[in-house]
Amino acid sequence: MPVVYKKQDGTITIHTRNTSYQMKIGPLGLLLHTYYGPTINTDAGCSLVYRDRGFSPNPYDAGIDRTISADTLPLEYSCEAAGDYRAPALSINRKDGFMTGDMRYEGHQVVSGKYSLPGMPAVYADEAEAETLIVTLKEKNTGLKAVLKYGVLPELDVITRTAEIINGTSETVIISQAASAAVDIMTSADWDLIHFSGRHAGERTPYRTEIAQRETVISSRRGISSHHQNPFVILAEKETNEQYGQCIGMNLLWSGSFAANVSKDSYGSVHAVMGIQPDRFDYPLEPGESFIAPEIALTFSNEGLGRLSRNYHKLIAEHVCRGPWKNRRRPVLINNWEATEMNFTGEKIISIAKKAGELGVEMLVLDDGWFGKRDDDFAGLGDWYVNTNKLGCTMGELAEEVRKMGMKFGFWIEPEMVNEDSDLYREHPDWAFAAPDIDPIRDRYQLVLDFSREEVVDHVLDQICEVIDDCKADYIKMDMNRPLFDIYSRTAEYQSRGRLMYKYVLGVYRFMEKLLERYPDLLLEGCSGGGGRFDAGMLYYCPQIWCSDNTDAIDRVRIQYGTSFAYPIRTMGAHVSACPNYDTKRYVPIDTRAVVAMEGTFGYELDLNRLSEKEMKQVTAQIETFKKYWNILHCGLYYRLTDVMENRQEAAWMMVSEDGSEALLNIVTLDVTGNKPNRFIRCAGLDPDASYRDDETGMVYSGNLLMSTGLLMPMRAVEGHNLVTTPPEYDAFQIHFTKI
Ligand code: DGJ
Repeated sequence: MPVVYKKQDGTITIHTRNTSYQMKIGPLGLLLHTYYGPTINTDAGCSLVYRDRGFSPNPYDAGIDRTISADTLPLEYSCEAAGDYRAPALSINRKDGFMTGDMRYEGHQVVSGKYSLPGMPAVYADEAEAETLIVTLKEKNTGLKAVLKYGVLPELDVITRTAEIINGTSETVIISQAASAAVDIMTSADWDLIHFSGRHAGERTPYRTEIAQRETVISSRRGISSHHQNPFVILAEKETNEQYGQCIGMNLLWSGSFAANVSKDSYGSVHAVMGIQPDRFDYPLEPGESFIAPEIALTFSNEGLGRLSRNYHKLIAEHVCRGPWKNRRRPVLINNWEATEMNFTGEKIISIAKKAGELGVEMLVLDDGWFGKRDDDFAGLGDWYVNTNKLGCTMGELAEEVRKMGMKFGFWIEPEMVNEDSDLYREHPDWAFAAPDIDPIRDRYQLVLDFSREEVVDHVLDQICEVIDDCKADYIKMDMNRPLFDIYSRTAEYQSRGRLMYKYVLGVYRFMEKLLERYPDLLLEGCSGGGGRFDAGMLYYCPQIWCSDNTDAIDRVRIQYGTSFAYPIRTMGAHVSACPNYDTKRYVPIDTRAVVAMEGTFGYELDLNRLSEKEMKQVTAQIETFKKYWNILHCGLYYRLTDVMENRQEAAWMMVSEDGSEALLNIVTLDVTGNKPNRFIRCAGLDPDASYRDDETGMVYSGNLLMSTGLLMPMRAVEGHNLVTTPPEYDAFQIHFTKI
């Protein structure tokens, strides 16, 4: 039984295969968190410390007992109004400004299967694979309720959480914080926070920082999850590394503004709260209305960060991504963006497609610039009709030409946006977010459409569906190239920023859901100026997301490394692009670019006509390699072998098939030095008692030695040079091992 209630000690314990999570109904009905860690079968209430701490207030009904304080006890869903001065999970004001929401345990139930969330992404599972725990908290004095839901996927060691706030009072209340979860770790050990931060073209760099007695906030206020901060954090014990130690992951399934607030409290406990961005979040909740916090997926690993990532990889690949493409090999695509930007004609696109088809590419994607008057950034967004003058044909005709070459066809859209120079904006200026009397903030010369309004979503969707119908698109790349700013809807009376931003994200989800309902076989790739909306919420709709606008293979090694902590390899859009690189101007050999792109969906983004004969042959061979290894690349268990942020000499990662019968080791050499000291790459995930054959050289290695001493870094002669002692810069190796 995954959920066990022990009436005698008031504990509710959730068990997964390797972990336990416990809460306890404490004094005055305060619901307290007691434990999250390796499996236990006891009351962990000993972690609760009842002491009279100065300046930590006591609930009125505690009477003269000064040891009961929400400020020092770990509330399962920490409520500001209960007297907790730490970062709250719940903060609500009455209309007169007075704080309310002192929640107490009312009851709980367990139901089979996993709950879903209306209009929002949520982990899904078969009835037999999951259980749901529903705990109801009720405000002490009023009819306000918080319904906490826990989805338990025992085999995956995953527990999901969400909270529904219900206004059962006769007054409007204003929610200023309703997080998805609070997690407390009662400990005297030192813990770190690992977060994934960056910028456009440099997303998701892992940073590790001590959790100290101060609040550290990882957050986005941009209306998208953002390039700058990812809605995923790890709490890790100081000693935890890839293979050893305790860590807890918090992965939010939300594509809008968010915040994770992590601190050590005055008495040494780690307190983490994560969910929707509370800054300027004023969400009016009318009597009878409810608010649902986005889902968060928690996992605990006692086997380091590698195991934590693999838990998420399985969860996201099998219980978040949906549709026919989730387990299918994705077509090797060619995208024209870096080759042409918006300066193309139909003829040019056909010439790119033709060469791609000859070399074995399986799908052409026509990027930005095919619609309206879109020849540059200034115009066209919002006018989703084909520019037949530019293409010289309709989209249907272009797709037909491409299909004759044996390839699938797809195209780019950016449905949430509008240029002022567009027919849509001229007709409906009030559909963009902007106050009527204030000039809006522009970004890439575009404004954001008010997707909180259903008629706006429907209009854009109808236009795009016409094009899809015409060309029977197999694939759509859905982009989003600016953050939200002027949060003002021309419909609402009261401009609640919190409500509008929340409804906006639901509008985006609605757009994608309707698109997929209408075209169930469509492969949807998410994008936001690269990886500005790479989050588990988007992956519910798009089984792959363009990882970054930075296609430089060496930068990508680092970006994909960071991304791999939370997200599976097969979700990361990655392409081989031209050299010198579009962004960094770096030169990296084409086979290395391919090895790096295979740590992702794999495709091309360049004009293949411009390659040398030799490189063209390499492209054909790369596509064959990808098809041969696809199963292990995308469905194998993923191991990070080097810390790419620390180790400047080489980057290595490997995939091991779930049945352990084969493994694929990938190595990219980074910095070079003359007469280089020996380097060994330590493998992981192998059977120590088995032997493995390198299928290219026939050499046989012991699994144990590959994981202890490691494999001596291979070296390859450079054309025209004798084999010396230093492997060339940016060389790459893919070594396939078969277990014998
Ligand atoms: C940003 C995307 O990340 C690029 O790949 C490309 O689609 C451009 N937008 C087009 O405007």
